[in-house]
Amino acid sequence: LEDAGVVADWAARFVLQRITEFAPGPGRHFVLGLPTGGTPLGMYRRLIDFYKEGRLSFKYVTTFNMDEYVGLPRDHPESYHYYMWNEFFKHVDIEPGNAHVLDGNAADLVAECRRFEDLIAQAGGVHLFIGGIGPDGHIAFNEPGSSLVSRTRVKTLAYDTLEANKRFFGHDISKVPRQALTVGVGTVMDAKEVMILITGVHKALALSRAVEEGVNHMWTVSAFQQHPQALFICDEDATLELR
Ligand code: F6R
Repeated sequence: LEDAGVVADWAARFVLQRITEFAPGPGRHFVLGLPTGGTPLGMYRRLIDFYKEGRLSFKYVTTFNMDEYVGLPRDHPESYHYYMWNEFFKHVDIEPGNAHVLDGNAADLVAECRRFEDLIAQAGGVHLFIGGIGPDGHIAFNEPGSSLVSRTRVKTLAYDTLEANKRFFGHDISKVPRQALTVGVGTVMDAKEVMILITGVHKALALSRAVEEGVNHMWTVSAFQQHPQALFICDEDATLELR
């Protein structure tokens, strides 16, 4: 697609279509997996518009977010709780109890990860998992070298990720949390459908490794070549390295 704005619009209309055709209702929730980051912001804004225009309701939608930092207070502006509430949830009619974000302050982080997987299973699995990727090909916090069958777990972040994220922490790398909770590649692979949003020339190498070379755990997003229903929604800039 032409640019990031068109990607955002396309992605939002796809979500609208999927939820509408599913026709959710009491006891029949549409289950959505969600990312944070810069890439999906435009999509969230369009979804909020659809809600305000009365075209879409989240009353019977259950969501699971991909990841959360360990040890950041919930109300820290860089926590993914804060991001999701501010950028999306508070603007729509989702029931707070149905919007699941991993708790990076849980006393037992391993148990928290297990609880999250159990909740996904209880919800009947994810219908549509939306994701974004890093320039190194990570999806969620599944850094290069992560197992392609991984489940939700505690992950120590790669140096490149700390570098990339320090801009959100006053350019001070020592303030970036060293660990995060993240869904595994296997967790996302289990979704019925996956939609990955990729925009910008800085993602061009990752996109080419993701789709034009073999499945490789150094570029974890390449795992989705083996997913029966995976969409990569890209702008022109992201495709510059494709053959
Ligand atoms: C988000 C996530 C990450 C981001 C990726 C791209 O929950 O887990 O995989 O999608 O780091 O981030 P942006 O969109 O900021 O370039």
